[in-house]
Amino acid sequence: MAQALPMLHFGVAQPQSAYGERRIARGVLNEALVDLDAIAHNVRLMRQVAGSAELMAVVKANAYGHGQNAVARTAVRNGAAWLGVATASEALSLRRSGLKGPILMWLHSPGEDLRTVLAEQIDVAVSASPQLHDLAAQAPTGANVHLKIDTGMARGGASPGDWPALVSAAARLERAGRIRVRGIWSHLADADTLGSRRSAEQLRTFQQALAFARTAGLKPPLVHLANSAGAFALPKSRYDMVRSGLAIYGIEPVPGHVLGLRPALTLQTSVILTRRIRAGAHVSYGQQWRARTDTTLALVPLGFADGIPRQAGRNASVWINGVRCPVAGSITMDQLMVDVGDVPVRAGDPAIVFGAGLKGEPTVTDWAQWAETIPSDILCAISDRVPRRYVPQSRRTSFPGETA
Ligand SMILES: Cc1ncc(COP(=O)(O)O)c(C=O)c1O
Repeated sequence: MAQALPMLHFGVAQPQSAYGERRIARGVLNEALVDLDAIAHNVRLMRQVAGSAELMAVVKANAYGHGQNAVARTAVRNGAAWLGVATASEALSLRRSGLKGPILMWLHSPGEDLRTVLAEQIDVAVSASPQLHDLAAQAPTGANVHLKIDTGMARGGASPGDWPALVSAAARLERAGRIRVRGIWSHLADADTLGSRRSAEQLRTFQQALAFARTAGLKPPLVHLANSAGAFALPKSRYDMVRSGLAIYGIEPVPGHVLGLRPALTLQTSVILTRRIRAGAHVSYGQQWRARTDTTLALVPLGFADGIPRQAGRNASVWINGVRCPVAGSITMDQLMVDVGDVPVRAGDPAIVFGAGLKGEPTVTDWAQWAETIPSDILCAISDRVPRRYVPQSRRTSFPGETA
C-alpha cells in the first residue's frame, strides 16, 4: 500500500507558551535555563542545614553544568563562605571572574605548576608527602593546604597507614613556615544511605585521624567531611564546614527526604518538525521502535552530543504542550523523536526535556532513573553546545518547603 506523504508543520515561535513556560527565543535552537533565584534559595537552605558550620559551594565541572562563575557569585552572595573545585583551571577562572574569597581545589598531578594558584591564595588539597613537598617548593611565602585522609572511599587521601608520615611532614613544614595546614578533611562514600554502617566507620576513622594530627601539633581551623547528603543525614559529619554540590543545584540528596530544594536547571528547546507516521513504521536507527498505531512524531533538536543520555531512550519522555510524551526510537547524536500521539503539536512549540517538575515535566532525577545513573551525571553531561541562559527573577511561588 502506498504510504501517505508525511505532514510537515513549521510554526512561528511565541515568547510564552499556553502552558506558561518561559520559552526560548525564536531562532535559538535549545538552551539550559538556569534559575539563579533557585540557586540562591538552595544555598540559603543549605546554610541552615549546616548549622554553625560554614558552607562550601562545590562549583567544579562548570557548576555541575549550570555555569561556574554565575553560580559561584550567587552562592557567595547568599552565604557560601568557600568555593570548591577540582582543578587549577577551575580555581583560576573563579579568581579571574573577580571572586576574592577562599577557594579549595583538590586535584593536581605530580609536577604540575601551581605557582599561580598559590600566588592567588587558592588552597590546595594534599593526600601524600611528595605532593606536600612539591607545593612547599613552589610557594615562596607558604602554601595553604588541606590534608586529606582516606576514611574508606579508597579514592583520594592518605590511607590510614600513610597518615602519620603525612602529618609529621606537614607539622615539620608548618613549623618551618613553608606551609599552613588550613584544613583536615575526607569524603563520604555512602552518605545518601540513612543509617549506613560504612558512613559510621568513616566517621570513626576520621576522628582517629584528627586526634593523631592534633597530637602531632596540627591545629587546622577547618575540619570538613560532609557533602550535601552528609550534611542532612549525618549531623556529626558537619564539623566546621559542609561541602555541598548536588543540593545547591536543587537535587534532594537523600532519596525520599524532601528538604525543599528547587531544581535550578531547565533543559528546553522547541519542536522543529512534526511528522505523521503509520502503525508499524520503524523510527530512528535500527529496528528497536515501531509505532503501534498511526501517530505523530515531534522532532526535538537535542541528542547525545548535547548530553542527552542515549541509554535513557527506552523509558524517557519529554514535556510538550502539557503532556509527558515518550521518546520514540533511539536518541541520535543531535536529535530525538517524540511520540506525541494525538496531542496537538506544531513546529515551534516548546519542548522541555527536564525542569523543576512543578507542572509535571520530567526532572533530572527522572532522567537519571531512566538512564540508570545519578542526577549529577545527567547535569554534568550537558555539553557546551547548549547555551546557558540565566534568569535572575523569581517566576514561581509554590515550592515545597519554601516560605513566601
Ligand atoms: C570532594 C568532594 N566534596 C564534595 C562534593 C559535593 O558532593 P555533593 O554533590 O554530593 O554535595 C564532591 C562531589 O563530587 C566532592 O568530590
